Amino acid sequence: MSKIVKIEAFELFDSRAVPTVGVKVFTEKGGEGFAIVPSGASTGAFEAHELRDGGLRLGGKGVKKAVEHIRNLIAPALLHHDCRSGLETDKIMLELDGSENKERLGANSILGVSIAIAKAAASEQDMPLYKYLAGENKCVMPRPMMNILNGGAHASNNIDIQEFMVQPVCPASFAESMEICCEIYYALRDILKKKGLSTAVGDEGGFAPNLKGDEDALELISEAIIKAGYSTDKVKICLDAAASEWYLKDGIYRMPKRDKKYDGEELIALWEKLCEDYPIASIEDGIGENDFENFALLTKHLGGKIQLVGDDLFVTNEKRLQAGFLAGAANAILIKPNQIGTLSETLSVIKLAQENGYSAVISHRSGESEDTFIADLAVGVGAGQIKAGAPARSERVAKYNRLLMIEKEL
Ligand code: PGA
Ligand code: ZN
Repeated sequence: MSKIVKIEAFELFDSRAVPTVGVKVFTEKGGEGFAIVPSGASTGAFEAHELRDGGLRLGGKGVKKAVEHIRNLIAPALLHHDCRSGLETDKIMLELDGSENKERLGANSILGVSIAIAKAAASEQDMPLYKYLAGENKCVMPRPMMNILNGGAHASNNIDIQEFMVQPVCPASFAESMEICCEIYYALRDILKKKGLSTAVGDEGGFAPNLKGDEDALELISEAIIKAGYSTDKVKICLDAAASEWYLKDGIYRMPKRDKKYDGEELIALWEKLCEDYPIASIEDGIGENDFENFALLTKHLGGKIQLVGDDLFVTNEKRLQAGFLAGAANAILIKPNQIGTLSETLSVIKLAQENGYSAVISHRSGESEDTFIADLAVGVGAGQIKAGAPARSERVAKYNRLLMIEKEL
């Protein structure tokens, strides 16, 4: 037992100049934990509530209210509680909030405290965070899904698919994965340069050129894999369509940048065709968050061949994941702690997924910070996969650098 003795909260900024919550927790036995909460752009409708101030200051995005909630409500309720029982401290915050989706205190306030407590507990026991998170479980290094080309809500180019990533199939180590992905990133940059296309990057560090069509991105990435000296058997392409962003109404989707319309069936046919033509190993949110039926149909068609990840579909939420099991929708879940708002609920949904044969992919948000928490989380829960953006932009690379150092320790 070691008591929480002080909690400090700050309004800080994320990688898009958007205010965000930072929390410091101090414990009786000298532990100290610091967490910064990330934030999405293509946020799911069912995510826990991110509390923002509104008004004119900082475009309404200030988090002074969230910070005040930590200082005035959360800190007094948690002081003198055991920092090593995250389940209990999370429960106190959930009860204090009392709402279905954490709208009273804000999921950003609650998550910042929840993660900072875990870090403080690990630090006072002189334990690496991944080991603290693993408990009795075995630590496993993840394979990266490395973002190399950005579109959708993460870039101001004309590409509708939000994320194009590469993933080594059977790397010897995380360090080797990193080398492979970086070499492909350089190759793609060279190809774009030679074609006179932009090498400016989007929110997650991937290149964001204007292209004739989204297929061209797949063409260029396949070319980059080969140019870097790898085969498309050894390195696969992963996509995040973020199709909830495309949903219009009455079962119709519209890719906004190209102004192309699809119904659910046509969208499924598109993914099938792309999987025939390109070495695609994983598609995230190929169907929108409200469309369990078509997500299940997509899973029936492609689920035996590739990974189908539910991000906005599941929002790191146990109830929605259970609905996914029932419907037969997806075969993997994306894990973003700020979609649900506490560490204990995050750990519990990962366990539920793993016990039911769904893979868990640990993920950053498009608005990130220097906090490397998700790297330790991926190793501690043995998720096997992480997506943390491109090997460019320090808020992304920080996670990969942390993983490189963890691999040395293990
Ligand atoms: P977001 O993007 O953080 O903007 O939601 C990441 C994702 O959709 O996976
Ligand atoms: Zn996504």
